[in-house]
Amino acid sequence: MRTGTSLAWLNAGQAVIFTVGLVAAMLMVAQGVMAGRMTIGDLVLVNGFYIQLYQPLNMLGNFYREIRQALIDMELMFDLLDTPPEVTDKSGAPPLKVTGGEIRFEHVSFFYDAARGILDDVSFTVPPGHTVAIVGPSGAGKSTISRILFRFYDIQKGRVLIDGQDIAGVTQDSLRAAIGMVPQDTVLFNDSIGYNIRYGRPDASEAEIGEAAGLAQIAGFIERLPRGYETLVGERGLKLSGGEKQRVAIARTILKNPPILLLDEATSALDTHTEQEIQSALKQVSHNRTTLVIAHRLSTVVDADEIIVLDRGRIAERGSHAGLLALGGEYASMWHNQKEAQESGAPLGPEKAGPGRLSEPFPDELSAEA
Ligand SMILES: Nc1ncnc2c1ncn2[C@@H]1O[C@H](COP(=O)(O)OP(=O)(O)O)[C@@H](O)[C@H]1O
Ligand SMILES: [Mg+2]
Repeated sequence: MRTGTSLAWLNAGQAVIFTVGLVAAMLMVAQGVMAGRMTIGDLVLVNGFYIQLYQPLNMLGNFYREIRQALIDMELMFDLLDTPPEVTDKSGAPPLKVTGGEIRFEHVSFFYDAARGILDDVSFTVPPGHTVAIVGPSGAGKSTISRILFRFYDIQKGRVLIDGQDIAGVTQDSLRAAIGMVPQDTVLFNDSIGYNIRYGRPDASEAEIGEAAGLAQIAGFIERLPRGYETLVGERGLKLSGGEKQRVAIARTILKNPPILLLDEATSALDTHTEQEIQSALKQVSHNRTTLVIAHRLSTVVDADEIIVLDRGRIAERGSHAGLLALGGEYASMWHNQKEAQESGAPLGPEKAGPGRLSEPFPDELSAEA
């Protein structure tokens, strides 16, 4: 707006100066013609000079505007470049060396905002090739754990180690290259589906992309699309449903083939049937791979080597599925709630549907919010 205003002032001022100048000059020449000192030709000459002078002067306004705009753009860009990143590599930090892929959280405390703690003294270990599940109510800090592991934030207390190396002391590139993540909300690029899957490993061949899509149970859907893998997904992937986006993210991660796998409610947006199919694919992918699973639906984590129940940033319970059920605490009550909801939900579904088949997704979502 300031540029627009100053340009208007410039144009108006220029027009006033020019018009006054032209009128004065024409009056002087007219007097000269009347006194016989000048001819009509002189009058036309002076007028022509003026008009020729005016045109380039007018261009000046345009140049002025363009230069101002360029300066503004440059200022914004430099401001952006000058923003200090919150998480930086230590100088001379070595890359992460993954041998087995052990993840260890040691007394980790974390807050986004000092006034409100999110994680409080969280410690756990995922041994190489094992699967650990984190469950708990919404807002307990489960996704925060995945963000910390990816080092999107630095923690305030404690350490996070991968194969004995503190993740704060290695390069972020090498850390993120070692972890494959299926996030809770998948962000897609406004490009084709094929491109979005390939993002997992840019040098992958078409065949590998197709294979990953097949494992993620999305190949059939893509092949039914009129433009197949060339279909554009729209801004942030808005042309795909939540479940389809999630499957693109899973295909991406399968393609990346990382030593450490992080699944943050990876199948929460899928119906029970698709979930079961993907679950078997994920099981295949996570076989012999260090895996951290975050889940609402407890039925998807019963096979985990250890289950951690997180409640308001603290570890409330931990152990195997059978052990936690025997304990009769928070996990056991969550499990029974989900089971009960599933069973009592059955009559809500259409009579002709098999018991508890169509109705399964609903009770799970209900108990997940509980
Ligand atoms: N960037 C952020 N800034 C401030 N608070 C946040 C931020 N991200 C998440 N939180 C808060 O941290 C808590 C834990 O979030 P999250 O780890 O995403 O929960 P969940 O266990 O459901 O995955 C929530 O109460 C949320 O409001
Ligand atoms: Mg979450």
